[in-house]
Amino acid sequence: MNRALLLGIVAVPTFVFAQTSVGRISVDPNRPLYPRAPEFYGLMTEEINHSYDGALYGELIQNRALNDDPVRAAHWPAVDGGTVTLDTSHPVPNTALAKCLAVDAKAGQGVANGGYYGIAVRPNTTYRLSLWVQGVSPLAVSLENGNGSDVWASAKVGVKAEWRKVEMSLRTGSGTASGNNRLALRATKDGTFRVTGVSLFGPTYKNRKSGFRPDLMELMDGMRPTFLRLPGGNYLEGNTIADRFDWKKTIGPVDSRPGHQGPWGYRSSDAMGLLEFLLWCEDLKVKPVLAVFAGYALGGEHVVGDALKPFIQDALDEIEYVTGDVNTKWGAVRAANGHPKPFPLTYVEIGNEDWADRSGSYDRRFAQLYDAIKAKYPHLQLIATTAVKSRTPDLMDDHFYQTAAGMARDAGHYDKVDRKGPKIFVGEWATLEGDPTPNFKAALGDAAFLTGMERNSDIVVMEAYAPLLTHTAPGARQWNTNLIGYDSLHAFGSPSYWVQALFGQHAGDLILPAVVDAGKGAEKLSYRGGVGVAGAGVAYSFPQVVGRSLPAITSWSPRDGSINVLEGPAIVLSGWNPIATAAGPSWQDTDFTVQVRRSTESPAVSLLFNFTDQRNTFRWNVGGATNEIVHTEAFSTRVIAHAKPVPIPAGQRAVLRIVVTGGHIKGYVDGELVIEADEPAPEISPVYASATKDSKTGETILKVVNFSATASPIRLDIAGMKQLNITGWILTGTLDAYNTVEEPRKVAPVALKKKTLANGETYLFAPYSVTVLRLKTK
Ligand code: AHR
Repeated sequence: MNRALLLGIVAVPTFVFAQTSVGRISVDPNRPLYPRAPEFYGLMTEEINHSYDGALYGELIQNRALNDDPVRAAHWPAVDGGTVTLDTSHPVPNTALAKCLAVDAKAGQGVANGGYYGIAVRPNTTYRLSLWVQGVSPLAVSLENGNGSDVWASAKVGVKAEWRKVEMSLRTGSGTASGNNRLALRATKDGTFRVTGVSLFGPTYKNRKSGFRPDLMELMDGMRPTFLRLPGGNYLEGNTIADRFDWKKTIGPVDSRPGHQGPWGYRSSDAMGLLEFLLWCEDLKVKPVLAVFAGYALGGEHVVGDALKPFIQDALDEIEYVTGDVNTKWGAVRAANGHPKPFPLTYVEIGNEDWADRSGSYDRRFAQLYDAIKAKYPHLQLIATTAVKSRTPDLMDDHFYQTAAGMARDAGHYDKVDRKGPKIFVGEWATLEGDPTPNFKAALGDAAFLTGMERNSDIVVMEAYAPLLTHTAPGARQWNTNLIGYDSLHAFGSPSYWVQALFGQHAGDLILPAVVDAGKGAEKLSYRGGVGVAGAGVAYSFPQVVGRSLPAITSWSPRDGSINVLEGPAIVLSGWNPIATAAGPSWQDTDFTVQVRRSTESPAVSLLFNFTDQRNTFRWNVGGATNEIVHTEAFSTRVIAHAKPVPIPAGQRAVLRIVVTGGHIKGYVDGELVIEADEPAPEISPVYASATKDSKTGETILKVVNFSATASPIRLDIAGMKQLNITGWILTGTLDAYNTVEEPRKVAPVALKKKTLANGETYLFAPYSVTVLRLKTK
């Protein structure tokens, strides 16, 4: 097919804001524009938000190799008395286990490990325990609840004077599943025992030994991905070069891996090492997109020229480890690690977000790596992370993080890009609205953007949402809006997850021209949200929102700090830029009053309103040297009003009031109007669509996003079809709807009733919905 010619004849869709009440979507299934990129839908991963340690990697014990702290027995408290110390003078011979826990205990005392945010225990389930042990007393091992009052499984372990490795099963009985448990090892006689390398696994996906958490793998599989971009993200680079993902330190026996400090504020055990990433790919039947370290770390350190050469060698070795046969040096290492068969590899990404390298060295670093990799592996497709001039990359990795309105407005981003340049890999993207996972508004933004990427999949050949995973336990995550959420026991897909799953499951293999007439004018997306207070050292009390019920301020949710409760009742925040919010509500017009008292050290008093999460909020800073209203949306923060400062002396009480009516905002101190702002609601097109064909079934697949508060009646005009036999799925909800551990499927696809329409008849697309229609003709 002559793609250029076809592109010339059939324009990619345009949005027509006609003021008619009935819209039209015209699709021509007989004139496909181009094949859909076969590897279009994929996954991106890195160690962020406790994605692997404490989640996907199935190890249930935290700090099993005792590398987390050089002097303390971190995560291994004593239970029921006794003392636990980190002992470096009793290494296990012929292993990498140089440290152990020395437990001085009387009978019944011992040591426990609560995993990462609790160990999940399910009834009638087998857990595989292994450990090295030495000492005087047989051990009583138990899988028990957080205070030991309920024991789910137990066993006795024989102990000798010399080290011995014990491998055994613990089987739970009937009962209910629970998430906050621990593994306890207790002495049965007085004395000292030593343990190390303690490992506990429950069931894993496809029963892989030392494999992956099944519920998370099943969710990923539901997206029908074809690739996994690994190992980052920032995690590839590290804050310093020493803390990069140094793949050679992540292979071999898990207990021999030193682990490293990740860029997201916590250590990685590196149990999810290079081979585990590849096994994850194998289990999901996807191909790795291997990102290699390219000589730049997030803190700004970079190496180029001769200094880059050892890293180039590392990258070549890494590719050999992935793809080489057992006769190659690194292929043989992989075989010795348990996987003789090479893995498939097509794409190698050189670095990550190297636009951040202000020194401008990426062009040279890219050229060095490009030349070395192409010389040895000419068939590999090489991905650049920002523009380069010295070489022509095979693909460019574009990243997008925006608000829902921003994403929807940018849905046509690739409609007009140069088709002659490198192909595009949208290696990270997400609508940033919602915490810890996206709300339904974000899912609509995602779906709108995805229709645009999909219909341009001649040039956009791969896409991956980021970040993929988040633990929802307080303190476990670093990034607000993440695709899949979980605690130790449950996992759920967010509304955005279901968008990815619907699109991936109904991908089609040919892109069809689709022209969209929304049938109605632009949609106004009002700013909505809850209220909150911010800043350390201010006492806040008696919050009220006219006409709404607010929880007591002492029960508001803290972020990036903590709440101290005073008498009154009032709260004072502490920490770095702390906030406390009555999160959740989607109030559009708000009349919010709160009493404040500054301390000498608090620079200002800050109220939050239209608050969705820290990346989507309005903030009024007043009472100190500034009096301003600031609007934060995704990564952009703008001052939308600035007025004369109104100092509130330390120790003095004041009543602050913020009144939001439509896009108009007024701020009062003690009843006096001191600031005003206007922030009109963003406008977007109300309807987005893409069309593909499934050439196996002959079906035309229509994906339609109604980003509108009202239903959209739309004529379906499918060339060459007389009658449309329709099956499909719908995803709908309120803009502020979330899925959670408690309500995992509040927003989830629902199958549509089968329906038959004459071609050209009207289909009513539900308000705020993503609809996938499969159209067959007789
Ligand atoms: O997805 C989270 C982070 O966003 C990635 O680590 C980084 O590449 C991007 O800036």
